Order: sequence, then structure tokens, then C-alpha cells
Amino acid sequence: MRPPELFTTKRLLVRKPVPSDAAAAYRNWTQDAEVTHYLVWRPHTHVDITQVFVDACITNWTGGRNFVYVLQETSSGEVIGMADVRLDGFKALLGYVLARPWWNQGLMSEALQPIVDWLLDHPNIHRVWATHDVDNPASGRVMHKLGMAYEGTLKAWSLHPNVSHLPRDSVVYARVKP
Ligand SMILES: CC(C)(COP(=O)(O)OP(=O)(O)OC[C@H]1O[C@@H](n2cnc3c(N)ncnc32)[C@H](O)[C@@H]1OP(=O)(O)O)[C@@H](O)C(=O)NCCC(=O)NCCS
Repeated sequence: MRPPELFTTKRLLVRKPVPSDAAAAYRNWTQDAEVTHYLVWRPHTHVDITQVFVDACITNWTGGRNFVYVLQETSSGEVIGMADVRLDGFKALLGYVLARPWWNQGLMSEALQPIVDWLLDHPNIHRVWATHDVDNPASGRVMHKLGMAYEGTLKAWSLHPNVSHLPRDSVVYARVKP
């Protein structure tokens, strides 16, 4: 299965990346230590690192398991974040990141809603899930607003190197096929 390359929401294009997205991604979030604080990767120190990452995201679309989208604000044309879907059989794992000036305006929930709906409409997908660091509740709010339910907290589940060198506890949310 292969999700659509484009979703259109009220304020966003949620689309497959192109190589030239790397410059805005670096400018807007990949180098930002606050944005990346609870993520599994360290802030990028040069745009070339972001370019390699964006190029890999594009290549991965052909692999059938990992689909990364960029979020482009319709009004400004600015590329402001990313969302990614990792397929594992009947399960789809979500990841997401948004540049700081656009936080707390409902944009990530808006971007992810059509992705989650599409996934759960697909006959092969029965579970859409995501995790977040225990100290990153804003991410849990996004999951809640997407209709995902709190399932529990996994101890020592994920390495978040900007927080600690030790594995961190992670909160799990999921929405399953009705
Ligand atoms: C998490 C993130 C994607 C949220 O994006 P966003 O567009 O701001 O999300 P939304 O506006 O849709 O929702 C955010 C919600 O969190 C709430 N929130 C913000 N800070 C919070 C905090 N410290 N504690 C609890 N809730 C918080 C907001 O009030 C909002 O809830 P509401 O709509 O009920 O008021 C964004 O902050 C981000 O990219 N953070 C850094 C990367 C990251 O953590 N990614 C997720 C990794 S699991």
C-alpha cells in the first residue's frame, strides 16, 4: 500500500518532499535545539545534513514502508514541519515535528487528521499509534485530538539523546479500526 502523496487541509498542503525543501527545513526546525529536544535525533549543524535527510525521505517513498510528508502553509508557502508514517504490517506508527513559530495553532493536529483517517480507512491498517517522551505532553495533546487513546507508559522505551544518554519512558497513544 502507498498513501497519497498529497493531502490538502484548510491551512496546509501535506505533501511528499522535494529536494529543495531542505533549506526551509534547516532554517525553520532541524537546527533548533528546542524543537528537537524530545526527538531521537540531534539538531543539525549544517544544511547539508538536512539535505541528506530530505533526500533519504524522498527515496524511502519507493520502499513501501516509510512515508514522510512536509507541511507547507498555504498562505505563506513556507515549509513548516514534517509528519511521517512507518508501516509495519497492519500497524502504522506516526512521527511529527513542527517549527516553533507555528506551535499551538492546531496545525499539527490539522495536518495529521487526514493521514490518520486515510490509514484507518485502508483495509490493511488496524492500528495507528505514536509515542512521546513523558516530559513532552504537547505531543500527547495532538494524539488525543486525533482521536487516539492513551494506552500506557513504556519504561525505558526510547533514546532521546538531547535529554539523556539513558533510555526514556514514553507514553503510548493509539487509534484502532472501529
Ligand atoms: C508537539 C508538536 C508537534 C505540537 O504541534 P502543534 O501544532 O503545536 O499542536 P496543536 O496546536 O495541534 O496542539 C498542541 C496542544 O498541546 C497543548 N500544549 C502545548 N504545550 C503544552 C504543555 N507544555 N503541556 C500540555 N499541553 C501543551 C496546546 O495547548 C494544544 O492543545 P489544545 O489545542 O487542547 O489547546 C510541536 O510542539 C512540536 O513539533 N514539538 C517539537 C517536536 C515534537 O515534540 N514532536 C513530537 C514528538 S513525539
